[in-house]
Amino acid sequence: MSKNVIFCYSGTGNCLDIAKNIARGLGDTDIIMMRSEPAVKDVQQAETVGFVFPCYGGGAPADFLKFAKDLLVSRRSFNYAVSCSASYAGTGLYELNKIVTLDYWKTVTHHCSCIWLFPHDLMLPRLPLDKAQERSEKLAAEIAEDVKARRKVTKKPPHNLLNAAENKGFGSIGSKKAESFKVSDKCVGCGTCVQLCPRGNIQLSAGKAVIGTDCAGCLGCLQFCPEGAISMGAITDKREHYHNPKVKAADLMESVIHID
Ligand SMILES: Cc1cc2nc3c(=O)[nH]c(=O)nc-3n(C[C@H](O)[C@H](O)[C@H](O)COP(=O)(O)O)c2cc1C
Repeated sequence: MSKNVIFCYSGTGNCLDIAKNIARGLGDTDIIMMRSEPAVKDVQQAETVGFVFPCYGGGAPADFLKFAKDLLVSRRSFNYAVSCSASYAGTGLYELNKIVTLDYWKTVTHHCSCIWLFPHDLMLPRLPLDKAQERSEKLAAEIAEDVKARRKVTKKPPHNLLNAAENKGFGSIGSKKAESFKVSDKCVGCGTCVQLCPRGNIQLSAGKAVIGTDCAGCLGCLQFCPEGAISMGAITDKREHYHNPKVKAADLMESVIHID
């Protein structure tokens, strides 16, 4: 196992890009993807263990917390987490801290992947994509320096009742939203969405993608579709699709990514 490990949940690449940039700063790092059950769970030998994940509906993605509960992380390693959101981090870091005691945590904002709610440039502070990406890379480099220096954050991660309530209700909103997926005639049956879906919720039938309702809400299928064939109704048809400019669909399909 590498000296450093980062567990990463990412739907549209912002978190994977941050994880990669932290790894580049640290060297010798395994990024273990956590979109579905992680390939490696026992990381007690690692010197540093990081978590990079997005905010979904005021908290961490439900699958991310579910998989985190099964991990074996030592109290002797330097354990840290980064929450990436469009505007507010919500309660994800607080919830993760109950599972793995964090020595350090940080929040990063980037463009918004939640196309049914907002256009992607609605982030805080509002920045064009190139500036948002530049800022995210700079913050990731700073996080790597903090981790290398084992700089601790003594303040507990943020928690507020409003975000906690929002996150509690988000599961059912997300499932309802999944019913609105539409696949247009533009679909060429390339299978990108099938391979990307972390829950195996998409199948090809007669050469066309068919999306079920067991959806994690990551929106990777819609945002990475090379034909722009997936939508969630009229509002999403008017909006530009978004995924992190440095991340390809194939990158998200890896289970472990090693960075020297
Ligand atoms: C289903 C869903 C819910 C989201 N909810 C929030 C939210 O409550 N607050 C927020 O600031 N951003 C929210 N976002 C935006 C993401 O946190 C943000 O775009 C993040 O960078 C996505 O990371 P990824 O590209 O690694 O998937 C949401 C995105 C999705 C897909």
